[in-house]
Amino acid sequence: MTRLDTPLTLPSGLELPHRIVKAAMTENLSDADNQPTVRHEALYRRWARGAAGGLLVTGNLMVDRRYLERSRNIVADAHLDVAGLRRLRAAADSSPVIAQLNHPGRQTNRFLAATPVAPSASAAVPMMGMFARPRALEPAEIETIVTGFGTAASLCQQAGLDGVQVHAAHGYLLAQFLSPYVNQRTDSWGGDVAGRSRALVEAVRAARASTGPGFTVGVKLNSSDFRHGGFTEDDAEQVIRLLVAEGVDLIEISGGTYESPALFGEVAELGAGTNAKEAYFAAFARRARSAAGGVPIMLTGGIRTRSVMESLLDDGGVDLIGLGRPLAIDPDLPAKLLAGAEGTVLPRYTLPTAIGFAGESEWYESQIGRLGAGLEVKPNLNAAVAATRFVTGELGRGISARRRRARLVKALPGT
Ligand SMILES: Cc1cc2nc3c(=O)[nH]c(=O)nc-3n(C[C@H](O)[C@H](O)[C@H](O)COP(=O)(O)O)c2cc1C
Repeated sequence: MTRLDTPLTLPSGLELPHRIVKAAMTENLSDADNQPTVRHEALYRRWARGAAGGLLVTGNLMVDRRYLERSRNIVADAHLDVAGLRRLRAAADSSPVIAQLNHPGRQTNRFLAATPVAPSASAAVPMMGMFARPRALEPAEIETIVTGFGTAASLCQQAGLDGVQVHAAHGYLLAQFLSPYVNQRTDSWGGDVAGRSRALVEAVRAARASTGPGFTVGVKLNSSDFRHGGFTEDDAEQVIRLLVAEGVDLIEISGGTYESPALFGEVAELGAGTNAKEAYFAAFARRARSAAGGVPIMLTGGIRTRSVMESLLDDGGVDLIGLGRPLAIDPDLPAKLLAGAEGTVLPRYTLPTAIGFAGESEWYESQIGRLGAGLEVKPNLNAAVAATRFVTGELGRGISARRRRARLVKALPGT
């Protein structure tokens, strides 16, 4: 019987002492040149203290400086301060660290990029007017982005990280390619599942080719986009088979996009107000496991209690339990669970408006910021204040750093 404290060795050889993983959560803590800072170090030191040696997946690092998910993401391009990333790694001590790599595509806000890019020119993401209409990428630009995943992976390896996770979930660029709703291309980057998967498969190949077999290369994938005409569970099953053929070491299952935030349990199909219902994507995890052969499956989304974790590990088709929001407010939770704690369902911080998703995300992001500043979490932080801070913060930082970013982009080799 697999238990929370049963060790697991990934196909790459990376040894995990137990089954609890800190899932990726954007930190928004870089400096104005998108470099790692001492706040990242403090944060990862804090998370490692409570992780009992368990795997830590970083918040998303960007592969293209022109298109960020947050104004203060780390960017893993030729300008990266590798020594700074090495210090983040060192702060995590005995916990393995893998960096999530991402390109936001159409989900980059208008303060950061006036014209986002996407597989096809599609509608703007409808969220508080923060997103602009994207233009379609040229084939040569897609090749450059794919190469960027390889460059980023190689830099992470140089920094001593244990691996990377290619982000193909939550409606970001690689998930946009996977989704027939957003990807209406008729060339070899679109069409059937194989065509829509090409950008992801090539990003994985680039990451592998630039690092080698002992370096963990994983993927975070949606079970579904939770939208009519989007990426489905049947598609996801096929993509998993393609990823297995590429020799990935870990597949994390999540779901949803900015427009349909299933990742937080916020869609009707999952049952309204779902924090009561645990493990949003558990039903798909079984299908994922049978498609994945021996590749370990990590499940993330709404998992809260020890009993649910144990049943997922025991007969639910899941190898690793991913935790996001709980670790933003209780970084010691993995150690507590391993010592026998029951876990607990979280209170909700969602606002009952269109800004609900951003409000919830920012509420947790604010707590992550506090941990990075060496402070304790603040449970009574007001969600409306957090949401407002998100919009004004992104606006101010996004616009003010535009010129610096443009200068760095210009100084990149090959531009
Ligand atoms: C503040 C915050 C930032 C997040 N940033 C990322 C991210 O960078 N990459 C990612 O794949 N998921 C991100 N997520 C989603 C989590 O990884 C996870 O999928 C989601 O929170 C559901 O898991 P949970 O119910 O355990 O929180 C973020 C979530 C939060 C709350």
